[in-house]
Amino acid sequence: MFNNVSKSYPNNELGVEKISLEIKDGDFVFLVGKTGSGKSTLINLLTGDIKPTSGDIIVNNLSLNNLSQKDYPYYRRILGIINNDYSLIENKTIYQNLEIAMLATGQSSKTIHKSIPLALGLVGMTKKMDDYPQNLSGGEIFKILMARAVVNNPKIIIADEPTAHLDYDSSLDIMSLFNEINQLGITVIIATHAKEFVDIMKKRVITLQNGKILGDVSKGKYGWII
Ligand SMILES: Nc1ncnc2c1ncn2[C@@H]1O[C@H](COP(=O)(O)OP(=O)(O)O)[C@@H](O)[C@H]1O
Ligand SMILES: [Mg+2]
Repeated sequence: MFNNVSKSYPNNELGVEKISLEIKDGDFVFLVGKTGSGKSTLINLLTGDIKPTSGDIIVNNLSLNNLSQKDYPYYRRILGIINNDYSLIENKTIYQNLEIAMLATGQSSKTIHKSIPLALGLVGMTKKMDDYPQNLSGGEIFKILMARAVVNNPKIIIADEPTAHLDYDSSLDIMSLFNEINQLGITVIIATHAKEFVDIMKKRVITLQNGKILGDVSKGKYGWII
C-alpha cells in the first residue's frame, strides 16, 4: 500500500508525487505511462531499492520506511524481481543459476532439488536445465529469469519493462506465463509501455503521468484515460 508517497531525486527531479494506491494480494497490475512518468521509480520504491522522500509504503504488513538493514533480506524474500539487468551467470548451467539464487536465501538442498524442476516446468524450460545461458534465445533467457523469480515461492512478482528486448511472439508467451504465475495466487506487478500486450491482458491498469496517477481501472486498456 502506498500512502501519499512522493520521491524526488537529489537534483530535485521529481520521480513520483503524492501516490496513494492499494494493491491486493493476488492482483495483476500494469503500471503504464510514457518514459519519465515514474514507473521505474514506483517499482524501485516497492523493491526497497530507493526510499520515499515522504509518505508511507506498507507491503505485507511491513513498513518499508522503517525497514532496518536486518529486515531487508527478509522483505526481499517475499519478492520475485525480474529486471533486465539481473543477468544470469554465463559459466553456470541454468540449474546452477537457480540453485545459486536459492542458496542465497538459505534453502535446504531437498527444497532446492524439488523446487528448481517445478519452477522450470512452470515456464516450459525443464529441458534447458543443463544448458548454459549463451545457448538460449532472449525469450528463453527471460523465461529462466521468470523461473528464478518464482523458485523461492514469492508473494509478489515485479517486472520492469519485461518485453523491452523481446519480439512479439515471445512477449505474448511471457505475458501468458505471467498470467499462469498470477493464477497460482502470486501478485504480479508489471511496469511497461507495451500497449498491445496491456490491451490484450485486460488487467488492472494504473496510468502514470508526470509522477502522478492519472487513471486506475480494472480490466483496463493502455491509454484508457489519456
Ligand atoms: N536516479 C535518478 N536521478 C535523477 N532523476 C531520476 C532518476 N531516476 C529517475 N529520475 C527522474 O524521475 C522521473 C521518473 O523517471 P522513471 O521513474 O525512470 O520513469 P519511467 O520508468 O516511467 O520512464 C524522470 O523525470 C526521471 O528523469
Ligand atoms: Mg522505467
